[in-house]
Amino acid sequence: MTVRTLKQTIPALETSDGAGVRIKRSIGQHQSIRLDPFLMLDEFGSDQPQDYIAGFPSHPHRGFETVTYMIEGHMLHEDHLGNRGNLRNGGVQWMTAGRGIVHSEMPQQESGLMRGFQLWLNLPAAEKMKPAGYRDIQPEDIPGFQRDDATIKLIAGELDVAGETLTGAVSGGSTRPLYADIQLDPHGRLALPVAADLNAMVYLYEGDASLGDKESEQPLTRSAANVLAEGDELRLAAGARGARLLLIAGRPIGEPVVQYGPFVMNTREEIEQTLRDYRDGRLTA
Ligand code: FE2
Repeated sequence: MTVRTLKQTIPALETSDGAGVRIKRSIGQHQSIRLDPFLMLDEFGSDQPQDYIAGFPSHPHRGFETVTYMIEGHMLHEDHLGNRGNLRNGGVQWMTAGRGIVHSEMPQQESGLMRGFQLWLNLPAAEKMKPAGYRDIQPEDIPGFQRDDATIKLIAGELDVAGETLTGAVSGGSTRPLYADIQLDPHGRLALPVAADLNAMVYLYEGDASLGDKESEQPLTRSAANVLAEGDELRLAAGARGARLLLIAGRPIGEPVVQYGPFVMNTREEIEQTLRDYRDGRLTA
């Protein structure tokens, strides 16, 4: 067993996207800053409606998946397949762009609050052109577990804990994504296995926490992708106020990535073809 240490910290940068939605972007703030198979991780949240109310009007994607997790407020979604969804507080939208989707995402506040995350998960070449798909996962369908001093909501993946396999709302997939929302009690501790073949990061969004053993703790940076070194176990310790954080891991694809805005393919030629398809109305055909 090897405890994963901190390899790199990628602080989120404040930026705006869509029709002027203020976000904090860690992974994906520059095309050279990725963690295979993850292309982007955005945190959005504000009590000021003008920071997000214009939302993300109709726009296309091809070649990857987006995973949107709301912790406050909600998000209205509509796509060209006729899916309409209202992603509720605590719910997840798992959208496979595959060969092409055109959708809109409009954040809405609830009791004056709106907060969530969007993760972009790449697809391997063999799956980039698969049919588009969409799943709305309701908050009550996300399994929750108590382990050590923590409450874990397992959005995706499997965790083997004390001889028992915990399975998330989404499981399998060629990159075996693991996505957990972890709430640590004040001064709480947690040890979790994270398979050695997965690239992994921790995103601290509330409170204080550190990584590792009592003897060698490394503080985590808030609103940053804290990228983990190789190993097969994650150890976390919270500060006096407790902590809330995301654990995100996946098996690297190891293929070239060529991105042009909302399109992510393997080669420039494929991007050019995608732009022609979009122009000619064949992106989703
Ligand atoms: Fe989108």
